[in-house]
Amino acid sequence: MKALVLSGGAGTRLRPITHTSAKQLVPVANKAVLFYGLESIAEAGITEVGVIVGDTAEEIQDAVGDGSKFGLQITYIPQDRPLGLAHAVLIARDWLGDDDFVMYLGDNFIVGGISALVEEFGRNRPDAQILLTHVPDPRAFGVAELDGAGQVVGLEEKPEHPKSDLALVGVYLFTPAIHAAVRAIAPSWRGELEITHAIQHLIDARADVRCTVIQGYWKDTGNVDDMLEVNRTVLEALDRRIDGEVDELSETVGRVVVEEGARIINSRIVGPAVIGAGTVVNNSYVGPFTSVAENCRITDSEVEFSIVLRDSSIAGVGRIESSLIGRHAEVTPAQHVPSAHRFVLGDHSKVQIHP
Ligand code: DAU
Repeated sequence: MKALVLSGGAGTRLRPITHTSAKQLVPVANKAVLFYGLESIAEAGITEVGVIVGDTAEEIQDAVGDGSKFGLQITYIPQDRPLGLAHAVLIARDWLGDDDFVMYLGDNFIVGGISALVEEFGRNRPDAQILLTHVPDPRAFGVAELDGAGQVVGLEEKPEHPKSDLALVGVYLFTPAIHAAVRAIAPSWRGELEITHAIQHLIDARADVRCTVIQGYWKDTGNVDDMLEVNRTVLEALDRRIDGEVDELSETVGRVVVEEGARIINSRIVGPAVIGAGTVVNNSYVGPFTSVAENCRITDSEVEFSIVLRDSSIAGVGRIESSLIGRHAEVTPAQHVPSAHRFVLGDHSKVQIHP
C-alpha cells in the first residue's frame, strides 16, 4: 500500500492568512496541517509516499524534506498545473504501479487518523472506499447520495442543489481499478479532471465502491471559527512539556507546551496552550486553546482562544480573544490623541472593535 498526498494547487493567496501561499502548510496547534496527514499515513504503516507538488513545490519541499522525520520515503511528483485530483492520479501512474493506495488531500485534517480505515480496506479490498461526513453547507464539496442500504449511488462535485449533506472527505482508498476510470473521464466545467467523476465511473460500471461516514473532519476553508475550533480539538490532546525558560514570577497551569528557546517572564499561561520556539511572553496572560507560533512577542497583553502565527507581536493592548493573527503582524495601542483606531490591514482582513 502506498500513499499519494496532494499538495499542489496554484499559489493563490489563502484567506484569511493572506501571506501564506501553500495552504497545506496552515498551522494547527503550531504544526502544518499537511504534517498531521503525513503522520497519520506513517501511523497506518505506510512508508512509500508520493507527494504531488505545484507552484508551491519549493515551500512544501523545504518543510517536508525527504520524509525521514516522519519515517516516510517521499517521492515528489511535479504537476505543471492544478488540472484536478484525477489528473494527479494520472501523472502518478508510473510511481503508483499496481499497488493499492490511499489518496490524501494535503489540506484536509482527519481527527483520529486513518489507521482503522487502511486496515479495513486491506481486509475487504473493495475497488474504492470513500469517506463522508455531514457538513452544514455541502455546496463547497463533492456530495454523495446513498440508497436505503447506505450504498453510494451518486456523487456530484460542488452541486448547487445538493442531494444530501454528506460531503466527500479528502481521503480516498483505491485499488488499481481507479486508473482506467481516471483515463475514461473528461474535464469538468471547471476544467479539472475530477476524482468524483472517476469514482462515479466506477459506480456506473458496478464496481464495489464503499463508504464510511466519519466525525472529526476539517478542511481549510478560510473560516476563522472553524480554524479556532480545530486548533482547540488538537490542543485538547496536548501533553505538558516545558523545554523553554519560565522565570520564578511566572506560572504555567495544566497542559502547556513551552518550546525550547521560548521565554515566559512574569506571566501566566493556562493550558491547553502552546508557545513556539523563540517566542517571548512578558508580563502577560495566555489563556486556554491558544497557539502562539515561533518568534512572537506578547507583552503587557492577554490572549485567549486564539492563534498567533510566527514573527508577530502583541503589546499593551489589553485582552484579545477568538482571534487569528497572521505572520509578522503587529498589534499595538494607538496614540491617545486623537482618540482613533489606526489600521494597516491586509486583503480580506476582518476587524472587530470594542468601541
Ligand atoms: O477537501 C475535500 C474536497 O476536495 C472534496 O469534497 C471534493 O469532492 C474534491 O473535489 C476536493 O475539492 P476542492 O475543490 O476543495 O479541492 P482543492 O482544489 O482544494 O484541492 C484539494 C487538495 O489537492 C489541495 O491540497 C490542493 C491539491 N491539488 C488540487 C488540484 C485541483 C493538487 O495537488 N492538484 C490539483 O490539480
